[in-house]
Amino acid sequence: MASFNILLLPGDGIGPEVAKEVEKVTRFLTNKGLAKFETETDLVGGAAYDAHGKAVTDATMKLADEADAVLFGAVGGPQWASVPYEHRPEAGLLRLRKDLALFANLRPAICYPALADASSLKREIVEGLDIMIVRELTGGVYFGEPKEIVTLENGEKRGVDTQVYTTHEIERIARVAFDLAKLRRNKVTSSEKHNVMRTGVLWKQVVSDLHARDYADVELEHHLADACGMQLVRWPKQYDVIVCDNLFGDMLSDVAAMLTGSLGMLPSASLGAADDKTGKRKAMYEPVHGSAPDIAGRGLANPIAMISSFGMALRYSFGLAEAADMVDTAIANVLASGVRTADIAAKGQNTVGTAEMGDAVVAELGRLI
Ligand code: IPM
Ligand code: MG
Repeated sequence: MASFNILLLPGDGIGPEVAKEVEKVTRFLTNKGLAKFETETDLVGGAAYDAHGKAVTDATMKLADEADAVLFGAVGGPQWASVPYEHRPEAGLLRLRKDLALFANLRPAICYPALADASSLKREIVEGLDIMIVRELTGGVYFGEPKEIVTLENGEKRGVDTQVYTTHEIERIARVAFDLAKLRRNKVTSSEKHNVMRTGVLWKQVVSDLHARDYADVELEHHLADACGMQLVRWPKQYDVIVCDNLFGDMLSDVAAMLTGSLGMLPSASLGAADDKTGKRKAMYEPVHGSAPDIAGRGLANPIAMISSFGMALRYSFGLAEAADMVDTAIANVLASGVRTADIAAKGQNTVGTAEMGDAVVAELGRLI
């Protein structure tokens, strides 16, 4: 039986609660003999800062580097508002992305039919929606230097972030988008702001050149990032794959998440380059929702994004596409049967907690296997 080592980093807020539910799924699939999923758990974010004075330790980074996949919960919370900037909980997440070179962030936004009424948009706009946001994850303004606040001679302060992209960085993320589109509806929308940013001009040029060279059979269009945000809420079904930089991807994927009914629904995969020899990629899987401090510790969080992130690990890291489909089907069936956490419930509908939702998905998996 194939065996996989998973590093589980629950993190802060609702992270540990949703992590518990994904462990039910890995245990269940292991017991069913699908594969052997061995999970090791470690600290990240505020939890790691409290224990070690750092948002992620070198020892944890080593485990992440050696794991077949990292499953990440969420980081952050008001109790760490005043820790030094370099040690803030989010720094742990950013170090994992950067040091593992996870440049390709895949954020699918799928609207399950049962949830079309949970979206803030009309049913006909979102029903059947299936788009994929491909976000560049290790470059751009998140990591560009200089990145600082300096005091000027007159005592005033100046804050600087730097947006920077090279041809290579743009080309490799565009390649991921084109390759994915070929397996879907064969359309890529590249989003930037070439009307105000030099990086946008370069982005558009590099994507167009690559398209002409290697992907002329894929439909390509360019949308300015602000217009793309507008079109996402106007008529999202016009999109198949959207490729964009780190910051625009951060924003557009939150918009896309709400189309699906709740931020609690959206999984993500962060992938590195395939190894020349083994073909394996470093990978981290995480729900798009944050640590949700307002509901943390109360057993209310929706674990679906976390479970479906593990589904993406089955597909992209473990080569178990059938099992991944099964996890997706189990989630769809549970939703169709009317089980709802509070974030996706319609007015007056009964709700369940985090653990009950996890149990319902596992029970449905039992029926499907
Ligand atoms: C995300 C989050 C992170 C980001 C934060 C927590 C640093 O918003 O994954 O979308 O900005 O990338
Ligand atoms: Mg975000």
